[in-house]
Amino acid sequence: MKALVTGISGFVGSHMAEFLLRQGAEVVGTIRNRSRMDHISHLLKDIRLEECELRDPFSVESLIDRERPDLIFHLAAQSFVPTSWNSPIDTIHNNVAGQVNLFEAVRRFGLKAKIQIACSSEEYGQVEPEETPIKETNPLRPLSPYAISKVAQDYLGYQYHRSYGLHVVRTITFNHTGPRRGEQFVTSNFAKQIVDIEKGRKPPVLHVGNLQAKRDFTDVRDVVRGYWLALEKGQPGENYNIASGTCYTIAEMLEMLLSFSDVRIEVKTDPSRLRPSDVEILLGDSAKFRAATGWQPEIPFERTLKDLLQYWRSQ
Ligand code: GDD
Repeated sequence: MKALVTGISGFVGSHMAEFLLRQGAEVVGTIRNRSRMDHISHLLKDIRLEECELRDPFSVESLIDRERPDLIFHLAAQSFVPTSWNSPIDTIHNNVAGQVNLFEAVRRFGLKAKIQIACSSEEYGQVEPEETPIKETNPLRPLSPYAISKVAQDYLGYQYHRSYGLHVVRTITFNHTGPRRGEQFVTSNFAKQIVDIEKGRKPPVLHVGNLQAKRDFTDVRDVVRGYWLALEKGQPGENYNIASGTCYTIAEMLEMLLSFSDVRIEVKTDPSRLRPSDVEILLGDSAKFRAATGWQPEIPFERTLKDLLQYWRSQ
């Protein structure tokens, strides 16, 4: 069983690779020449890396022709919401063109590969209180260029399945975190600030943005197991929420992180961390995915946050 992971050097990609190796899969991953290798340096003897620029159709075609994988986990993306406001077209181009190129190459070579695509709960955007927990049938009211790029990826998955019979499973993942989470994302950003304060590398002031937003967090290690199950047991063309079913305000998440540290910290709002429009609440109903695959999250949020703090303490 050969598995291709796009974006293998990223946060989710590195955990996906670890999981796939434990399943006994042959693992090939795409990197770009500017990819950082620190998340996968411990895996280099067990995985194979291929340089591939997903925005370039020829680069993708030649990769797919050479590798002909059985499974594709398409994780490469510009995944930070604020970046999508600074340069909307880069996010749209990266996320949408990259996936179209992948689908076109699979179609062109008549590959029977099963493809998981990483869609996002950001697609739901503006959600009314009575619409939670959010089901896959909820209207999409995206609030950022990033969310738009994910809506496009999601519906391209549907369209390529319907038009050409590609085996695409659309996973709509709610927030996820854990060790190696990029430091710009909220859980990791706060954890790193706390550790920097613990180590005396920064004054005891923690900078924050909107603490009122509510998010549904799952551990990344549960998420990658979900991606595997999505291809094992999910129906092609279908979309599935992957979520814990519990949400916290960002303030509550911060309280939890602070409770795992001994330092006294002042919390200060940094206006540059506020967004032009922020999704107020994401709380997912993943009953459809659980029924189809038997998946359920196993790692409690407290442990995820402790492991994340530990990750930063060990850096
Ligand atoms: N990043 C960040 N930094 N976010 C902050 C901060 C801060 O200092 N303070 C408050 N927040 C709030 C944001 O305004 C947002 O409401 C929430 O914390 C989460 O922010 P992020 O961690 O940046 O994640 P996200 O919810 O925007 O997007 C993540 O989840 C999506 C799935 O819903 C990303 O992982 C996306 O790639 C993913 O698709």
